[in-house]
Amino acid sequence: MASKRFYVTTPIYYVNDRPHLGTAYTTIAADVLARYHRSAGFDTLFLTGLDEHGQKIARAAEQMDMPPELFVDRMAQPFIDIWKALDISYDDFIRTTEGRHKLAVQKLWRNIYAKGDIYLGRYEGLYCFGCEAYYTEKDLNEDGSCPMGHGKISEVSMPSYFFRLSKYANTLLEFYEAHPDFVKPQVRFNEVKSFVREGLKDISISRTNFKWGIGVPGDPDHVIYVWFDALTNYISAIGWGKSSEIFEKYWPADYHLIGKDILRFHAVYWPAMLIAGGIQPPKTVYAHGWLTVERQKMSKSARNALDPLKLKWEYGSDALRYYLLRENVFGFDGDFSHETLIGRINSDLANDLGNLLNRTVTLARKFTGGVVPSDKGTETSEEGRLRTSAIETAKAAGDFYHEANFSKALEVIWKLCAELNRYVDVTQPWKVAQQRSEERVGKIIYHCLEGCRFLALMIAPVMPLKSRQMLRQLGLEPPSMDREMTWPDRWGELKANQSLPEPHPLFPRINEKVSSLIKEKIGFDSFRRLNSESKQTQKEHAGDPQFEGKGKSEEQHINLQQFKKIDMRTGKILACEIPRKSKKLLKLKIDIGKGCERVIMAGLAEQYSPEELIGKSVIVVANLKPTRLMGITSEGMVLAAEDDEGRIILVVPEKEIAPGSKVL
Ligand code: MSP
Repeated sequence: MASKRFYVTTPIYYVNDRPHLGTAYTTIAADVLARYHRSAGFDTLFLTGLDEHGQKIARAAEQMDMPPELFVDRMAQPFIDIWKALDISYDDFIRTTEGRHKLAVQKLWRNIYAKGDIYLGRYEGLYCFGCEAYYTEKDLNEDGSCPMGHGKISEVSMPSYFFRLSKYANTLLEFYEAHPDFVKPQVRFNEVKSFVREGLKDISISRTNFKWGIGVPGDPDHVIYVWFDALTNYISAIGWGKSSEIFEKYWPADYHLIGKDILRFHAVYWPAMLIAGGIQPPKTVYAHGWLTVERQKMSKSARNALDPLKLKWEYGSDALRYYLLRENVFGFDGDFSHETLIGRINSDLANDLGNLLNRTVTLARKFTGGVVPSDKGTETSEEGRLRTSAIETAKAAGDFYHEANFSKALEVIWKLCAELNRYVDVTQPWKVAQQRSEERVGKIIYHCLEGCRFLALMIAPVMPLKSRQMLRQLGLEPPSMDREMTWPDRWGELKANQSLPEPHPLFPRINEKVSSLIKEKIGFDSFRRLNSESKQTQKEHAGDPQFEGKGKSEEQHINLQQFKKIDMRTGKILACEIPRKSKKLLKLKIDIGKGCERVIMAGLAEQYSPEELIGKSVIVVANLKPTRLMGITSEGMVLAAEDDEGRIILVVPEKEIAPGSKVL
């Protein structure tokens, strides 16, 4: 059915940077849309990818002393890795250096050229290489710098092909009128309309001052402007100009998700290009707001462009995804802070959802023999209300997901969660059990479990891993593929007698100690401290040549040379004893190769007995300054890791290896 297909895209990201929290935000939102629509039975296509051409990329490659082809290949990998780590379920990944893309870009060019809407002229004016965009005087900041924060603007003069955008102003305004959902949110649409109402100038769409791009058909001196090239990805990926079947199935796209910074390209240039090329514009361009980090603008120069991978390691991908979409209203500016993230984890995820699942399964294991009870018993109005609520919540949350209103979708889902928690409090199944009313207890617990099943399926688009864990704890086997998850629409699908495994906390709470450790590790607090210290130092030493440039490079990083100074080797534990009065420390005798033995005191006593340790291979820091602990000289350190609950676990070589082997 034509209406049952769904096509969502993200911007294709410039490869000169690694993915950061901002790019992750857009991509996670697109992933949630894709996952929801798949589960609701839509034939879904989710496209993301990379923008690999243009002067900005060519310059970045040059700075790295690499041919651009090699540079873009190298820089593509972190995107692929990070999207995998964040469970991004894209169906296609387009890179603008691919042949399929080049064909479509040149074909679109030819179509528009044949129509007479591309002509050769000369471009003279202001250009920002950071944005790869032209500006007029009035667009710039007061100091004449880039309005998007890229700094200096260049004056350029060169022959260029132009797209006759001016001709499309009225067509665009008519199109906007006829398509009230073309740009969301509405305030952004208003901005677009007033920009177009002021009249449009033709735009320059080719360059002659560099070569890294797609050639202009019939004029090898020019390469096609990177935005003309990049925007075409949305149709090149689905075979426009080549395979009409896929193109016709998915086009027009349901959503182009973008940040508000690139709205003009998507809501003015792109539909005009498409109309000129004889193609229908997309249905909706959804421009979300800008994310700040602890209320500061995210930027490389401020060193606060948080790495989503680090956030995932500390908080988990699901919690991060939940937080970003629940805390911020999509479409408007938002903020990231550790404090609010931890708050959401502890209250919404651990207290509300995790606790509901845990208490429900625990009650079932205690009072209904560890299986899903039957739903037969006597019913009160409470159960009827709960069922209606669950069905209505699924409908409302589905509609909100469909509209990309993620925070609202999650809000209504959490209302159901609160209702279920209240239902347990009010019905008090533990008391009913004392009255030996088995069927009634069964009825109550069945409703709690089935309510949890609804919740598990409704959180799946945002938290795919936790959703599966929830289903397992409810005794269900989730579908082998996430893509086969289904949206709940019928009450009562949980089958009686299904056995329930022992519950595990879905989201462990994050306490004060762990929270400050995380902040330290991720570096934002240390970033702030360093930054203010270095500002202070710079202020105090302004003009002092000794301090010129200092503080800038003193980040929380060490360089390779510093790292290489650490002599890390494999060792084998020969003997182990517990020193008198020691609770935590163990005295280890370790063979560190070449006939050397060392005595090292290690804080492992709470996790390991001496017998467990003797004969184990470990990693030793051999050149640590000796120190005296409990009257014994310790000559080095054994590597271990500490988990969230404070357990110290040894780091060991993956295979048997001779003592004294160097750790690289
Ligand atoms: N290559 C162009 C897009 C071409 S699409 C045909 C581009 N790339 S980009 O790498 O600069 O990515 C821009 C997008 O990243 C923004 O539109 C937005 O989706 C996301 N974000 C980058 N920084 C962001 C924030 N601070 N906050 C939220 N999103 C941000 O422009």
